[in-house]
Amino acid sequence: MRIYRKEGDQVQLIAFPDEQIGKGDYFLIEDPSLSKGLLVQVIDLQYANIPGVLEDILRDVMTDGELTGEDSDPLNISSEVDALKDTRLALCKIRGTINQEGGLTPSTSWLPSRTASRIKPYRVGNLLVNGGKRPVKLGHTDGESLQVDASTLDGGLNIITGRKGTGKSHLAKLLLISMASYGAPCVVLDVNGEYVNLHKSKDGRQQSIRLTVLAPRSGLNFALSKLGLRTVSGVLAHALDLPATSSKVFTTIWRDLEARGGLSLPEMIKAVQGWNCHDSVREALVSRLQVLLESGLFSDETNSLTEEKIMRLVEDGGILVVNLKNQSQTVRRILVEIFLGELTKILSSNWLKAIFLFAEEAHLYLRETYWDDIVTRMRHIGLFTTFITNQPDTVQEGIYRQADNVFIFNFTNEHDLDTIGKVAKADRETINYLVRGIPTRRCLLLGNVVRDLPLMVDVEALDVRTMGETRLFFS
Ligand SMILES: Nc1ncnc2c1ncn2[C@@H]1O[C@H](COP(=O)(O)OP(=O)(O)O)[C@@H](O)[C@H]1O
Ligand SMILES: [Mg+2]
Repeated sequence: MRIYRKEGDQVQLIAFPDEQIGKGDYFLIEDPSLSKGLLVQVIDLQYANIPGVLEDILRDVMTDGELTGEDSDPLNISSEVDALKDTRLALCKIRGTINQEGGLTPSTSWLPSRTASRIKPYRVGNLLVNGGKRPVKLGHTDGESLQVDASTLDGGLNIITGRKGTGKSHLAKLLLISMASYGAPCVVLDVNGEYVNLHKSKDGRQQSIRLTVLAPRSGLNFALSKLGLRTVSGVLAHALDLPATSSKVFTTIWRDLEARGGLSLPEMIKAVQGWNCHDSVREALVSRLQVLLESGLFSDETNSLTEEKIMRLVEDGGILVVNLKNQSQTVRRILVEIFLGELTKILSSNWLKAIFLFAEEAHLYLRETYWDDIVTRMRHIGLFTTFITNQPDTVQEGIYRQADNVFIFNFTNEHDLDTIGKVAKADRETINYLVRGIPTRRCLLLGNVVRDLPLMVDVEALDVRTMGETRLFFS
């Protein structure tokens, strides 16, 4: 391999036909006289444009099968010309400098010698705390096992995106199980009911995972008095769009009922019906309270789910799956509003240091203002979110910029690629070239988890019952 040219943060390498090179590969351009090396990553492979090759290819085609007789090539030039035709030009991005001790620095302001440098494949995996204190085995890169450090997934915001069926949820499950195995409290908002069997292996054995699945009419009961005014009026205002004027009346009625010790939905509805207020306010309130009553999510205090119970379920590596499958939009929004309220209570009273939230297709139930809230306020109190989506444009641009780690699976749609290209963690070119045409189950890792060195990984298989596979007639 040879250096051909350098422009800005790009280097072009010439690779001869017998040299192994692939998109996403890392190479070290080592300059022996300076005893350091330039770390570059191949983002695209092209044919080298060598003068005369086009003419030669055309001649080959035109004379194919038309001329009889022996080829006479005493100087063996044709094999050399053939080699030239197969010579590739590798577009590479400079990622940093590897110094004599093997450490990585971001410096890219020097040029290695074109004649003296040696170019060899470089294993970036070695830089990623392979087998550190809390290793997470993500999969394979070039046949070598790739481990990352669980702490790089801590304290931040992760996004997993890609086309349907490419392995996003699978990766989310892998991260979830790994984080829980290190004691991290985890909550999953599961829209497809596909996380409910993670504690069973494929052949039905029990895994060492503490998993609780809750669903409406199956463990998800809340009592108004335990939730408190703030959460309940939040549900009414945000999940059920109660106008502000009615919200004020609701607060007054709540205080009144609370003082009399009669906080329940039926009591509340009765009180609103008899309350002296404008008809429209009364109607607005009664209709919303009726929705809450019919949702089946509210009961009396005896076995209601409280923040203490939620905390018990997730502390020391417990996984709580909130199964939102087959629920209406409204019920999903009510539940998410309640859960985010409860998790905020747990975290702001310091009962737990942090909670990891895995949110599948969050645009289906997360209200507009929560996106910012999750990446700013909630992150500071310790709610660390992983968004999983196949519609990258439903995640606001600002969220991508805040993301600490982004995992990108295959995309074919130009518009989706453009959206992802705005990720601050990598340049648009890298994402565009590398993501295009990657096979399913392989993804591009960006961010802290790979020390900002974009890396392609074939995600590890899991021995758990995943479910959620698309239901098919022909199989
Ligand atoms: N790395 C992997 N190894 C083995 N099976 C996988 C892997 N990734 C995905 N799968 C399987 O492929 C199917 C689709 O994956 P899934 O994660 O549900 O896709 P997505 O969430 O992107 O739609 C599932 O049956 C899943 O179990
Ligand atoms: Mg999925």
